[in-house]
Amino acid sequence: MSYAATYAAWQADPEAFWMQAAQGLDWAQLPSKALFDDAAPFCRWFADGRINACWNAVDRHVAAGRGAQFAIIHDSPVTGVTHKITFAELKNRVASLAGALRAKGVEKGDRVIIYMPMVPEALEAMLACARIGAVHSVVFGGFAAHELAVRIDDAKPKCILAASCGIEPGRIVHYKPLLDDALAQATHRPDFCVVFQREQEVAHMEEGRDDDWHAFQYGVEPAECLPVEGDHPAYILYTSGTTGQPKGVVRPTAGHLVALNWTMKNVYGVDPGEVFWAASDVGWVVGHSYIAYGPLIHGNTTIVYEGKPVGTPDAGAFWRVIQDHKVACLFTAPTAFRAIKRQDPQGALIGDYNLKSLRALFLAGERADPDTVNWAARHLGVPVIDHWWQTETGWAICANPLGLGLLPQKTGSPGVPMPGFDVHVLGDDGHELAPGELGAIAVKLPLPPGCLPTLWNADDRFEKAYLHHFPGYYETGDAGYRDEDGYLYIMARTDDVINVAGHRLSTGAMEEVLAAHPDVAECAVIGVADDLKGQLPMGFLCLNAGVDRAEPEIVAECVKLVRDQIGPVAAFRLACVVPRLPKTRSGKVLRGTMAKIADGAEWKMPATIDDPEILDEIAQALRGMGYAQADAAR
Ligand code: COA
Ligand code: AMP
Repeated sequence: MSYAATYAAWQADPEAFWMQAAQGLDWAQLPSKALFDDAAPFCRWFADGRINACWNAVDRHVAAGRGAQFAIIHDSPVTGVTHKITFAELKNRVASLAGALRAKGVEKGDRVIIYMPMVPEALEAMLACARIGAVHSVVFGGFAAHELAVRIDDAKPKCILAASCGIEPGRIVHYKPLLDDALAQATHRPDFCVVFQREQEVAHMEEGRDDDWHAFQYGVEPAECLPVEGDHPAYILYTSGTTGQPKGVVRPTAGHLVALNWTMKNVYGVDPGEVFWAASDVGWVVGHSYIAYGPLIHGNTTIVYEGKPVGTPDAGAFWRVIQDHKVACLFTAPTAFRAIKRQDPQGALIGDYNLKSLRALFLAGERADPDTVNWAARHLGVPVIDHWWQTETGWAICANPLGLGLLPQKTGSPGVPMPGFDVHVLGDDGHELAPGELGAIAVKLPLPPGCLPTLWNADDRFEKAYLHHFPGYYETGDAGYRDEDGYLYIMARTDDVINVAGHRLSTGAMEEVLAAHPDVAECAVIGVADDLKGQLPMGFLCLNAGVDRAEPEIVAECVKLVRDQIGPVAAFRLACVVPRLPKTRSGKVLRGTMAKIADGAEWKMPATIDDPEILDEIAQALRGMGYAQADAAR
């Protein structure tokens, strides 16, 4: 069926559409209907069905005779190891881990934090939780101990599964010491921790609290899959909001399985048995949906790649993986391709590899700049497909669905709405804007299966953050427009979230850290354009009266503070001291104008500005850092 016919079928009868999609899964009990909207705007999908995510991702493939197919390929250039695990092996490994967790008292609904690098054990940990109905929350390794502590206190896990270390090019990431530090900072105490010891760094174990990954599985009875209600939370994934307190996005079990299963064929165009590679990290939503659950549910082999697009060992790393494992579909962030293009502008290394298995490249996580898209399409000779989604939705809001027949491509657009998403562009007062007009992008409620039903333990925050501004709609936080043909264009965030190398970060959270420096009176953080990472954070510091220390020293301390509190992933290196911050007369810092000046973009003097001269001071400071170079018009 074509995209147009599929979208129309969903519009005509959403119930029938989603009940039909639900047929693609194994249920312990079929749901009586798809949508449960009795408590709208809070909606549940397939709530009276019973299902198990691990059964659908692992056991059912073994039962169907696919046990000998590789489920996971761990390709790790940073350790020099490639390790393949079949579905049959995966089933045994996960059942054993789940049995050990259960034997230590982890039950349905208990939270389990997973703090692990790109190793198969991270996926096994997620699946083991799903097997027994525990709710996992994976924390990305590039965050500092403080961020882990915040998540521990919010999720209140019964146990934490961690690795001893991760490996970044040129340095070991000390996961276990970071975990110890986080536990020292957190108020909540998990009952126990389980540590997967890696040979690159064996961690110290705390007697009575820490168990060894293998030893604690010794002699336990493997766990069978426990069917859970359709709306049982499968996981919590924390994402950046406007403040330092991250939002715990809840993912409901059945909707997530139904939606992901549907996307594998219809959006990504892959068949069971093929190799699907999402070059991301298990700590992000892309990792949850398309390294772990999506490919496995659909019977695809997934690649867990522990390396980078460049430097492990060179800009041919991606091509080597595609060749070695016959990857049919690659999904990554545009920044990875910018990194490759920068090191190998002519794509010379591509010729060294056989890429004939590759049918498509999908990009998401940040705006795909036309230069990068065109470069990839020219050199790979396959469709390069931008698609737009968020942690909150768990799957693409807009895409060009390869499996339904590729639509004409429009560079700069992530495509058209997927079934389930009724996308609107709204003016600030909520009225619908005409094609070409820039506005807030909102999705008419209910959101489709798989999207967040709420935030963990924060229904009020969920309503306030997403549903209040435009009653009857979910506010995406992205601004953009649609064209006459219904293609969406995503232009910017409407909040204080920035996107650094495809990583979603909160400038508000960085400001909270900087404001805690004893010499800082007030501060602002903005995102400035960067050729490689898309955006970089930049801090402006106003010092307390009477501070007479050298400014570079204070700046260096602030840079360190953000790295120590938020983590290296924030990539916070740019900061300067300014006498004052530009504000509106009501006291709002003019971050948007500052960012435009920094990028050399056109900007207008805001009518509400308190003191226009301050912008000259800001421009001067920016020029001192090599920004605001273009002679931008006011
Ligand atoms: N664990 C610990 N630290 C991590 C980490 C992890 N999983 N991932 C990144 N970091 C660290 C990096 O080592 C770096 O630390 P440094 O300041 O000591 O060098 C810092 O966080 C910033 O990382 P990053 O922004 O990724 O920059 P980079 O210079 O290491 O790599 C790219 C740049 C473009 C190669 C890299 O961002 C990349 O591969 N991106 C691919 C896209 C992607 O993964 N997107 C995720 C969403 S789809
Ligand atoms: P995350 O929740 O980390 O996946 O980040 C989601 C945000 O990344 C979105 O709200 C957008 O701001 C941005 N984003 C993701 N995909 C795209 C895309 N294809 N084009 C433009 N921005 C994107």
